[in-house]
Amino acid sequence: MRILVLGSGAREHAILLALKGEGAGHELFAAPGNAGIAADATVVDGLDANDPGAVTTFANEEHIDLVVIGPEAPLVAGVADALRERGIPAFGPGRAAAQLEGSKAFAKRIMDAAGVPTGRATRATTRSEVEAALDRYGAPHVVKADGLAAGKGVVVTDDRAAALAHADEYLPTGPVLVEEFLSGPEVSLFFLSDGDTVRALSPAQDFKRALDGDAGPNTGGMGAYSPLPWLSDRFGSEEAFVDEVTRTVAAPVVRVMDAEGTPFIGLLYAGLILTDDGIKVIEFNARFGDPETQVVLPRLTSPLSRLLLATASGTLEDEPAPAFADTRAVTVVLASEGYPQAPVTGRVIGGLDAASSVDGVHLAHAATAARGDDLVATGGRVLNVVATADSFAAARERAYRAIDRISLDGSHHRTDIAARVATD
Ligand code: AMP
Ligand code: GLY
Repeated sequence: MRILVLGSGAREHAILLALKGEGAGHELFAAPGNAGIAADATVVDGLDANDPGAVTTFANEEHIDLVVIGPEAPLVAGVADALRERGIPAFGPGRAAAQLEGSKAFAKRIMDAAGVPTGRATRATTRSEVEAALDRYGAPHVVKADGLAAGKGVVVTDDRAAALAHADEYLPTGPVLVEEFLSGPEVSLFFLSDGDTVRALSPAQDFKRALDGDAGPNTGGMGAYSPLPWLSDRFGSEEAFVDEVTRTVAAPVVRVMDAEGTPFIGLLYAGLILTDDGIKVIEFNARFGDPETQVVLPRLTSPLSRLLLATASGTLEDEPAPAFADTRAVTVVLASEGYPQAPVTGRVIGGLDAASSVDGVHLAHAATAARGDDLVATGGRVLNVVATADSFAAARERAYRAIDRISLDGSHHRTDIAARVATD
């Protein structure tokens, strides 16, 4: 197949590596891509991934069989709608359905209609509404911007003044959500949905805070691991957990969205908290998660291209359920100095060959560019070191041995990714 992947992060690199790894001879294209992606796909210079007309023209002229939309911005810009109008299979929801991620208020409404368990939330447009909601729910306080904020529009804090200050930052541009704090382990579970049929992938856990021990500010994600062996203690098996979330969350949401005329075609990302009162949704995303994709796809044994095309074409029902290897996968994100507040970019990265020569390790590039003979960091999250092994202890050892071989002045990474499962 000729496949175009839109986006430029480690998630898109992971998707391309999985497609390439099928060994089916796909012709892979990426826009805008990055320096690492350029080694695995043809980067299409000058194609604006957020321009529905430009993407559609390119896909049409180049006889692209499938367009996979990685990030949320092209979804919200209507790229999937434009492609589907021209009969080009697109993996990703249309603009209206993508609001499931882009508008937290929209997501709450769909969840209510679908009877999906979630925490209480108040949409506030004034400071006094925010204050009243903070007092109603009590500490810890959760305040979110109601829009795209790349995972950074949320604060969770015991400090009422900090919660208010966060609300003040976003109130001038739109409403904020004040939520009840949900306590428990977090799980990211991905579903393929062709608008009707829903198929789960294997669960993963993401580390959202910048620093070890879940300290520091929220980030786009500093690492991840998959599978989650501890789910079996609570649910009997991973399958039982996945079945429950499919039945109580994904299937009802997809049904409601279809009934409302905004069918969800693409990747439904359920961000879950396993509270003492049961599984609750904290957020939906309308795309693959980053960095979870980097640990889920290396374990996928079914051909990814078939699953994505079937999702885009409405034939998921005819496909066998996605299958996963029993390997353990860990990814650690290498971040630039100052990330997430003010990342320093433009610095030279070294040691990549030494890092990827560690057994069971590969690199997914997030924000890299070639500058002459050098590779430089162009953003906050720069690289993902991904390691697979038979045990989490071995996968962690590999990942950390590899990341220690990479040089980038001032860079930082968490040292406790998957530490809690190191005995599994
Ligand atoms: P979100 O952007 O909604 O995914 O939130 C980012 C992170 O903030 C989540 O992964 C959680 O760690 C945390 N968070 C968000 N909402 C809540 C909540 N209601 N209760 C507890 N933690 C939350
Ligand atoms: N890992 C969180 C996200 O992709 O939103």
